[in-house]
Amino acid sequence: MKLPYAEPYRIKVVEPLKKTTAEERKKAIERADFNLFNIRSEEVFIDLLTDSGTGAMSQYQWSEIMLGDESYAGATSFFKLKDTINEVLGMPYFLPTHQGRAAENVLFQTLMGHSAPEMVVPGNSHFDTTKGHIEFRGARAIDCTIDEAFDTTCKHPFKGNVDLAKLEAVLKEYSPDRIPLVLITVTCNSSGGQPVSMENIREVSSLCKKHGVTVFFDAARFAENAYFIKTREKGYSEKSIKEIVLEMFSYVDGCTMSAKKDGIVNIGGFIAFRNEELYNKASTFNIIYEGYLTYGGMAGRDLGALSVGLKESTEFSYLESRIGQVAYLGEKCVEYGVDVQQPFGGHAIFVDALKFFPHVPRDQFPAQLLGVELYIEAGVRGVEIGTLLADRDPVSRENRYPRLELLRLAIPRRVYTRSHMDYIAAGLANLKERSEKIKSGFEIVSEAPIMRHFTIKLKRI
Ligand code: F0G
Repeated sequence: MKLPYAEPYRIKVVEPLKKTTAEERKKAIERADFNLFNIRSEEVFIDLLTDSGTGAMSQYQWSEIMLGDESYAGATSFFKLKDTINEVLGMPYFLPTHQGRAAENVLFQTLMGHSAPEMVVPGNSHFDTTKGHIEFRGARAIDCTIDEAFDTTCKHPFKGNVDLAKLEAVLKEYSPDRIPLVLITVTCNSSGGQPVSMENIREVSSLCKKHGVTVFFDAARFAENAYFIKTREKGYSEKSIKEIVLEMFSYVDGCTMSAKKDGIVNIGGFIAFRNEELYNKASTFNIIYEGYLTYGGMAGRDLGALSVGLKESTEFSYLESRIGQVAYLGEKCVEYGVDVQQPFGGHAIFVDALKFFPHVPRDQFPAQLLGVELYIEAGVRGVEIGTLLADRDPVSRENRYPRLELLRLAIPRRVYTRSHMDYIAAGLANLKERSEKIKSGFEIVSEAPIMRHFTIKLKRI
């Protein structure tokens, strides 16, 4: 018999969870204006809002918390992390930032300045903060993801891939001075935690070189991407994750990193560079926005914990159980007839809300409805990846309807067990049974001009 995945760790400290009743949850979500971000975490039983900053640190990471060097300049913890980034990613220069979006802000300020209405940033379904930083500067994010990514049933193994023809069209249309960078997000969160193949990374890189354009990774989930390359791409099954990661990074000029994901820390981020000149340029902005070069928005202890986290997240046994757990949940959903994005993503299962509530119009936000109803059903909190998140067009101010309307169930790293996965899937199955009785969604009461999903207020129709 093939042995099933099992967590390569055991539990030393537990964090008790509180169970609530459906009645209590109905009151809580009404009080929260049907916005799951407004719920108190103690009102949630299983929290799948995000896999960001929610992971469990290992005993080796916790020991770094005690070893943290809090010197303003030149801290030992900084050099520990610098060595690790060089060893794991092959990037000799880096700037710490307080999280991923801060890294985006510093990098984009360096490459675009604060106003860049003539510029475009091609990529594979940019994450929302990334797009936010691009649009905030008046520039435009151009999505060049392959079309297969937008069909939840298509089993393409690398649905994060960049469509080379789409990218080449952009590279031909705009001169290099109007393309500050091309950004490859690994794995691609917005298209369902889907990986990018090594072949695609290599081809994007050579196309960009040909056109004289810089290429960066948004590397938040780089290790999960490497796992998919190892398990799905021809020629990589015998390579170690660490070898694969080094090859991936050999094709890019640098990366922005939200360390809250594959760094397995609760807060932190960085920008890594191959080139000293770009690092020097960005340094000034890092000092202004984040902090001095050797801490940039992070405590010394967190720099130390991150240096261990990067090594742990690139262990095969960890990734096998991490991604195995996500797939286990995905398989349970399929077994219960719940339509989910396939192949399953690395960090999350994405439930297809248009198939769950086919009778609910898109301007009533079916994925948000699914999130609210799943919370009421089972105390499980997911997050809408649909029209609310896609926000309004910056010019026309009309709703932007993305091709998919999804509820993301993001699995925190090393936090929940297989029985939690069973519980979540059963909650979805129960909700599915009564889904036809839920006839309508929401209308907007108030919203912010940008990134509205965080603070939006809704009411039931
Ligand atoms: N890039 C990607 C691909 C992300 O998924 C995120 C965050 C960021 C950048 C920004 O990083 O949060 O550290 O500032 N994603 C979280 C999520 C919030 O829930 O997917 P950050």
